[in-house]
Amino acid sequence: MFRNPYVAYGVLASPGILLVVGIATFLILQRTLLAPTAQAAPDQPIDFPHTVHAGMLELDCTFCHRAASEEPHAGLPALEQCMFCHTAVQPEDNEQIGLLLEAWNNYEGVEWERVHQLPDHVQFVHEAHINAGFECSTCHGDVEEMEKIKQVRDLRMDDCVECHLDNEAPIDCTTCHY
Ligand code: HEC
Ligand code: HEC
Ligand code: HEC
Ligand code: HEC
Ligand code: HEC
Repeated sequence: MFRNPYVAYGVLASPGILLVVGIATFLILQRTLLAPTAQAAPDQPIDFPHTVHAGMLELDCTFCHRAASEEPHAGLPALEQCMFCHTAVQPEDNEQIGLLLEAWNNYEGVEWERVHQLPDHVQFVHEAHINAGFECSTCHGDVEEMEKIKQVRDLRMDDCVECHLDNEAPIDCTTCHY
């Protein structure tokens, strides 16, 4: 029936088909490019082991992530805080400690790679969740057992909304979107 290639092309290019292709493409891009959070753990400039600090030494999470119960962002520690111990704790021939001392002595910060990162149009506030009684592990898993931090919970819109519904927290769009 579509012997004439121009007729066949006309069918392919019809608005209905373009729309379907468009939606499919959008959905694929949405789940890949726009996915807020890759599950793979990024390499960090210094291999900072939570196993040693939160695990073996049993430091409180908020010792380093101080803002978690007061502000939207939990925050990352400044190098001063590392040096609180590592001025003295300097295991010999430890390459990673070497990197830490080098950054400190050169007055450089460390540019930690983000592990969790929501898109800009979403707001998340730690303090509301901590004050509602959730543990860090509810969303971040057993960090004290992680040699290298990775994301373990989905934390996409469905996940957020489901927990909000279960806990009678607000679910209007403006709760989470600017
Ligand atoms: C001695 C300081 C220190 C302690 C204690 C500590 N952290 Fe961290 N945390 C860091 C540093 C430094 C990073 C950035 C490097 C990295 O991701 O490994 C980080 C990264 C993280 C991240 C990833 C941040 C992102 O980019 O998404 C999470 C989540 C986290 N910590 C949770 C915790 C939890 C939960 C605890 C307690 C069980 C804890 N941390 C204890 C220093 C600390
Ligand atoms: C409360 C004290 C304390 C603080 C604060 C602290 N550390 Fe440590 N850190 C230690 C101790 C103790 C060890 C274990 C040393 C050993 O293995 O002999 C250690 C080990 C390490 C190691 C080596 C792990 C290994 O065995 O290869 C690195 C890297 C490190 N810390 C980085 C950091 C960074 C970066 C910060 C700041 C974000 C930090 N530390 C904050 C006490 C601390
Ligand atoms: C209800 C889920 C939830 C709980 C509970 C939670 N977090 Fe988070 N955390 C997130 C989300 C979502 C992000 C990403 C935020 C963003 O990209 O704006 C995040 C990001 C972080 C980061 C990266 C830096 C930042 O501040 O955005 C750190 C560090 C962190 N969390 C530590 C903690 C610690 C420590 C606790 C416990 C005191 C905790 N979180 C409890 C969901 C949670
Ligand atoms: C484990 C359950 C849980 C998860 C997962 C969760 N939330 Fe919540 N969230 C709550 C509860 C409960 C409250 C209400 C706290 C209160 O009553 O102040 C809340 C409050 C909030 C608030 C503050 C609302 C306000 O007006 O005070 C924002 C914003 C928010 N959540 C965003 C998010 C986003 C974005 C995500 C996903 C990345 C998320 N939440 C995941 C349970 C959760
Ligand atoms: C409890 C928090 C929360 C609420 C309430 C919420 N969202 Fe979202 N929304 C998110 C998060 C987190 C993302 C980013 C992650 C993702 O794509 O799932 C998002 C992403 C989106 C996106 C972008 C999808 C993409 O791939 O970029 C749209 C559009 C959106 N939300 C619309 C809405 C509308 C409309 C409402 C109200 C009916 C709403 N949201 C309510 C948390 C929320």
